[in-house]
Amino acid sequence: MKGLILAAGHGTRLRPITSLRPKPTISVANKQLVHYAVDNLVDAGVREIGIVVSHDTIGYLRKSLGEYVANGESSGDRPTFEYIIQSPPEGLAHAVKVSRDFLGDDPFVMYLGDNLFERGIRGFVDAYRPEEGVNAVLALVHVEDPRQLGVAIVEEGRVVNLVEKPKDPPSNLAIAGVYVFDRNIHQMIERLEPGAKGEYQITDAVQMLIDAGFYVSPVEVPGWWKDTGKPEDILDANRLQLLRVSRHLQGTVEDSRVDGEVVIEPGAVVRGSRIDGPALIGSGAVIERSYIGPYTTIGDEVTIRDAELEYAVVGARSSVEGVGRRIRNSLIGEEVSIVGDGAPESSHQLIVGDKSSLKLSEG
Ligand code: TTP
Repeated sequence: MKGLILAAGHGTRLRPITSLRPKPTISVANKQLVHYAVDNLVDAGVREIGIVVSHDTIGYLRKSLGEYVANGESSGDRPTFEYIIQSPPEGLAHAVKVSRDFLGDDPFVMYLGDNLFERGIRGFVDAYRPEEGVNAVLALVHVEDPRQLGVAIVEEGRVVNLVEKPKDPPSNLAIAGVYVFDRNIHQMIERLEPGAKGEYQITDAVQMLIDAGFYVSPVEVPGWWKDTGKPEDILDANRLQLLRVSRHLQGTVEDSRVDGEVVIEPGAVVRGSRIDGPALIGSGAVIERSYIGPYTTIGDEVTIRDAELEYAVVGARSSVEGVGRRIRNSLIGEEVSIVGDGAPESSHQLIVGDKSSLKLSEG
């Protein structure tokens, strides 16, 4: 079984966060989305992984994955990576098409690089049982409103119909971003016509599989699933991940109050501050005379001085100093500098891309 991580999209809904970096390299609870994907694939027994990238994203992903594996941070056996250029990205089925040489005739897991699964993906890979005639596996999740998603209809243990973004959903079973396919998907993709927005849609190819009599097996997603298309999704994914952390204080804590499930990583310093968990303080971060509220992740080597944050993510090597108003509901990229004039008044909501510099005058 091979793996294929799709990381060649435009990420337009997450700009400016994705102006300088591909969406799968955004961190949630101080771990990049693509690193969760790699760990989940390795956990499911996949070792050979293709990464679908664009010319713009290849450098970022190569560096990110190279360092992740070289530093021994990835879990389990070391996977190998092959980078496949999809330029321009013309849809999920097109990503599979350009990966044909890498995939050969092997079965494979297609994994959207911006998707998070609480309990991994092993169940979907295990459900691929060619000896029982299974040709493909779809990961399905019950959602209240699937109108912006692909929707599946299941009858007698088989997927019998798919509809992309239905106005009037025929079921509330949405298709999550992990698929398992055998080689039969390739002949469908060869015959595929572009659909909405000129993209080659994988749901159309799967529908062709079904119509040709192949067996597409539905597997429900255990635990939560998160598709991180928009800033609020990243903040919600961060909240969900932080709900899983247990108190572990490794850095230095002086004259401070730290309540609840809080992780302070080695080398971090918290002084004269208050932290209300769940929260995560990355290694080498410095928190002084500040308040860090629930569902906040502070990246590695971040400096927070004389500031208050809650329900926020701050990327590595950024700094927030002297901001009087509380910063909440905010997503701040890497190497960002935010300086305020200290005047206290209501709150800020900030979405700031990497390497930005803001001076806030709050009086
Ligand atoms: P999407 O979120 O559907 O697309 P996107 O990343 O371009 O974002 P936006 O809609 O905000 O512009 O893509 C899901 C994942 O699949 C994402 O990690 C990028 C990847 N992808 C490809 O690799 N090739 C493609 O042709 C497309 C459409 C997406």
